[in-house]
Amino acid sequence: MRMYDIIASKRDGNVLSDEEIAFAVNGYVAGTIPDYQMSALLMAIYLKGMTDAETAILTEVMAHSGDMVDLSPIPGIKVDKHSTGGVGDKTTLVVAPIVAACGVPVAKMSGRGLGHTGGTIDKMEAVPGTRTSLTQEEFFAQVRRIGLSVIGQSGEIAVADKKLYALRDVTATVGCIPLIASSIMSKKLAAGSDAILLDVTMGTGAFMQNLDDAIELARLMVSIGTAHGRKMAALITDMDRPLGHNIGNALEVQESMAVLQGKGPADLTEVCLQLATNMLLLAGKGDFKTCRALAESVLNNGTAFAKCCQMFEAQGGDTSVLKDPSRFPKARYSYDISARADGYITAHNVEDIGVASVLLGAGRQTKEDTIDFAAGIVLHKKLGDAVHSGQAIATLYADDPALFRGAEATFCRSLTIGAQKPAEPPLIYARVTPQGVERF
Ligand code: URA
Repeated sequence: MRMYDIIASKRDGNVLSDEEIAFAVNGYVAGTIPDYQMSALLMAIYLKGMTDAETAILTEVMAHSGDMVDLSPIPGIKVDKHSTGGVGDKTTLVVAPIVAACGVPVAKMSGRGLGHTGGTIDKMEAVPGTRTSLTQEEFFAQVRRIGLSVIGQSGEIAVADKKLYALRDVTATVGCIPLIASSIMSKKLAAGSDAILLDVTMGTGAFMQNLDDAIELARLMVSIGTAHGRKMAALITDMDRPLGHNIGNALEVQESMAVLQGKGPADLTEVCLQLATNMLLLAGKGDFKTCRALAESVLNNGTAFAKCCQMFEAQGGDTSVLKDPSRFPKARYSYDISARADGYITAHNVEDIGVASVLLGAGRQTKEDTIDFAAGIVLHKKLGDAVHSGQAIATLYADDPALFRGAEATFCRSLTIGAQKPAEPPLIYARVTPQGVERF
């Protein structure tokens, strides 16, 4: 078999055989296939697509390119969740403790920020002392003891995805449904949970920009997981506005703790409750109404917040900052952005808002960058809110005031102010299960 022929076959729009897919991926991981040939194949896939059967094989080969975690020593149905990425998307820090507080074990591996989107592991490390790298024994023991652990993905999980993602990132081949589906599902299958809820974001801050594409991605991932014996569902959630008000690592932890204490913004609280309800449904905790009531009860009676503190404490984190946000290390400088006209915020380009927070130091511009945990943005006004000229619509936080200029320009480019109040988009557009698509 020759890589040249596989590339040519996909270039000409043919369906690749299982053996060809395995040859390409395994050869790339082993180093016998060079970056330039794999880049050509990725671009051919980007342009010609893959059938569902090809994507399923690609996922399986990628999943088996590293360790397959066996969570069976932990009793109970283990439930995972995965978001396709967003700005201000801090739901894991709320949802995982809610689900664990309802008695469903969560043994979760999460990622770091990617481009303009944030990552749970960076946010957790904003809590001083928190360890996000545990041995498998420590990870399992913690889940057995308190029902919850969130750690960084080990380098040995879905090794092919690690290599392929880095290549896609620099060859303009990220935004491709079969490649995204296989990337996400290879990691989820390898991470070993029995049930997986996918949060497929849609809008200007997400990979998927329209509902049809988001549903197609969700459908494909749900069908791959189902074929591997996992209980699967996906929610399509809005990313045409950031979730909540805070963007940036420590700022997002503070807002998540506010939700867990019943004091969080309504949009973030509702999306978290929906995600938690769907995870509890997958874990077999009852019908929708029962699961929703369970999720609300642990939020309202403080047990979800206590579970979150227990997790951070078990992983070495200083929980005093979770209980009293004024103890979080603060950025040295802040800067208010004012509205330049009267009217309503009629559109956000959420990716630009994410980029503005990266420019302040909240994300990485190169792989080697260190993150400034205190940097970020607090939005005072969001989509649909009335604004008056001169009124502060956002506050930027950074350790270097020179960073404000570029971040302000990018943030202002992201906003449209108009005379008419826009219609509010739904927070959740649809739910995708093996049984079909429910649009809301
Ligand atoms: N997240 C992933 O893990 N992979 C992708 O390809 C896109 C988003």
